[in-house]
Order: sequence, then C-alpha cells, then structure tokens
Amino acid sequence: MKNSKKIKYFGPKTLGKSKRVFDIITVGSAVVDAFVDTGIPQKGNNLVYPVGDKIVVENIWFGTGGGGTNTASAFSKLGMKTGFLGKLGEDNNANMIRDILLKSKVKFVGVRGKAPTGFSVVLDSKERNRTILTYKGANEDFGFNELHLERLKTKWFYFSSMIGRAFKMQEKLAAWANRKGIMVAYNPSSYITEDGVSGLRRILRHVDVLVLNKEEARHLIPKGDLFHGLNKLGPKVVCITYGKDGNGVCDRSFVYNSLPRKIKVVERTGAGDAFAAGFVAGWIKTNDVRKAMQIGSINAESVIQKPGAKEGLMNWSEINREIKNRPIKILEKSC
Ligand SMILES: Nc1ncnc2c1ncn2[C@@H]1O[C@H](COP(=O)(O)OP(=O)(O)OP(=O)(O)O)[C@@H](O)[C@H]1O
Ligand SMILES: [Mg+2]
Repeated sequence: MKNSKKIKYFGPKTLGKSKRVFDIITVGSAVVDAFVDTGIPQKGNNLVYPVGDKIVVENIWFGTGGGGTNTASAFSKLGMKTGFLGKLGEDNNANMIRDILLKSKVKFVGVRGKAPTGFSVVLDSKERNRTILTYKGANEDFGFNELHLERLKTKWFYFSSMIGRAFKMQEKLAAWANRKGIMVAYNPSSYITEDGVSGLRRILRHVDVLVLNKEEARHLIPKGDLFHGLNKLGPKVVCITYGKDGNGVCDRSFVYNSLPRKIKVVERTGAGDAFAAGFVAGWIKTNDVRKAMQIGSINAESVIQKPGAKEGLMNWSEINREIKNRPIKILEKSC
C-alpha cells in the first residue's frame, strides 16, 4: 500500500465527501487450479488416456486463479487498496483462496454459499499443451440480492467475466455504480462476447474502460471499425489486445498502438488479466493512455515468462524502472 498515498485520481466529481475505502474492487470468478503434468504424449491435437487405467502422473501442483482474484492480486501489487467481490463455497478450497487474497493484501468483500468453490483441472500433455476442465460452481450462482452494497465503498469496479446469475448481478451492479458515480472497467471473455452485442448493451452503457481481445471485439462489432463501434456502445476508453502483436487503445480522440518486444513465452496463463489490470491501474493512477499501455504490457510480459497466473506480477516501481530503461514503443494517430 506504499504507493496508495501518491495516487492521483481522475473521474467524476460526484463522489461527495464519503470516505472511499477501496481504490478498486474486482468483481469476478475465483477458482483453485490443479495443474497436472500428465507426461502423456499427444495424438495429433488430442490428449488420449485409456479408460479404466490408473495413470501415474509426473507432477501436480495447485494455484489459485479466476479473473477476479488474478486481477485483485495485480491491482494490489500495483499499490492500490483492493477488494475482491466474488462467491466462494464453504469448503477447503475457499479457505485456500482466502489465504492467497490475504497474502496479496486483498480484502474479501464477497459471499460464501452452499455450491462448491470453482475448480479447474489443467492437464498438460508431454508437449506442454493444455486441456482445462473447469467447474464454475459458486462463481455463477451469485445474485445481486446477495450483495452487501454498503460494504462496496470504492472509486472503481473492475469486472472480469462472469456467466449465468452472476452476469445479471454484474449488470445490476454496473447500473448501481453509475448512479453512485463509481467508475467501471470491464474485461469480458469470448464466452460472454460470442453471442454478439445484444446481451451486453445494458452493461456496456455503464462501462468507462473496456478491455478485450480482437476476436472478442469482432464478436461485438462484426463489421466496420472496431474502436468506433465499441466507443458508441458506451465505453470512453477502449483497449483491444492482439496477443504477441501488442494492443491498441482509442480514447475517442486518438488511437494508440504499441509495438511489442520479443519475449520468451514460458506459460501464458494470466497474460490477459495481468495486462488488463496493469492497463486499468495505469489509467486510474496517471490518466495517461500511453503510460497505461506500457504498464499493462510490461506486467503481461512478466507473467508470461513465469508459470501460473499470479507469478510474475510486478509492482509500480519495478514497472516504472522498466519503462525508463526499455520502453515499449507506442504510435499515435488521430481518429
Ligand atoms: N507472446 C507475447 N509477447 C509479448 N506480449 C504478449 C504476448 N502475449 C500477450 N502479450 C501481452 O499481453 C496482452 C494481452 O494478451 P492477449 O491479447 O493474448 O489477451 P487475452 O486474449 O485476453 O489473453 P487471455 O487468454 O489470458 O485472456 C497483449 O496485448 C500483449 O501486450
Ligand atoms: Mg482475456
């Protein structure tokens, strides 16, 4: 929290005098990941194992993931006072997630319920390609009526992808945030965007900063200029990511494009989360698109060079040192 005193905030002046407890609250999923190095060679694009056998695997290790907790850890590391709003079960996996949040200095402001905590099994083939079996559990069984709104004193919400009842909860929370003058950033995944824009119109009206990859953007705007189309839906700042080809941002006046650096990819889980959290934190702290792009990109590069979604997340001064020494080139043109 060392940097939080230095944070200069930008946003609506309608927040009144009430004390804001959090700089940002992330709203999204939480899962325990079991990573299994199966050692099984692929057959073409398939990982095939015989039914009825007991297979001795090479290695197994556990981590926590889910867009909500990954980004909460990232924001906290960047010096922001961070809360996590999600739903956990009443099981040991919930305790594991609470422990990691505590270690990351993130306060849990969510709820617990009967459904089991979200869980993923990440099966690695001998060739190091992954198949993920994911169980959403408590993550999707989360209604707006379960929220303790009085606890959600924050300047910003960051929404990662949620589905089912939990998506409806985010939709209502975004409208509530809008009425309260709280800013909203949103990073929907392809399983939210693939059905097209109609189901997202209501939430996007209340979104200030939208981050998504180019496939997700194309799902929403099938024809024509992506930035123009997405800006028209509500968000003032739109960021589209292009994987190893960097990212582009439009703030309704200029389009900025980053020229990424070549890095060695070790394990890319969490790249999107590290980028989006870095970008949003950079935007909140500096109100400078170029700086925000640098922070997001450098954070993502660092996570890609370590295994696991939360390993490699950088702090504010580490990133700024990197920007000084080896800045990412950014091109700008008017739009
Ligand atoms: N191979 C890479 N080399 C350098 N930077 C990368 C690479 N892959 C991703 N990045 C950085 O991370 C950002 C986000 O990556 P990407 O576009 O793959 O997001 P995503 O599709 O949302 O990922 P995820 O599957 O984790 O949700 C990129 O804009 C870029 O800055
Ligand atoms: Mg993503």
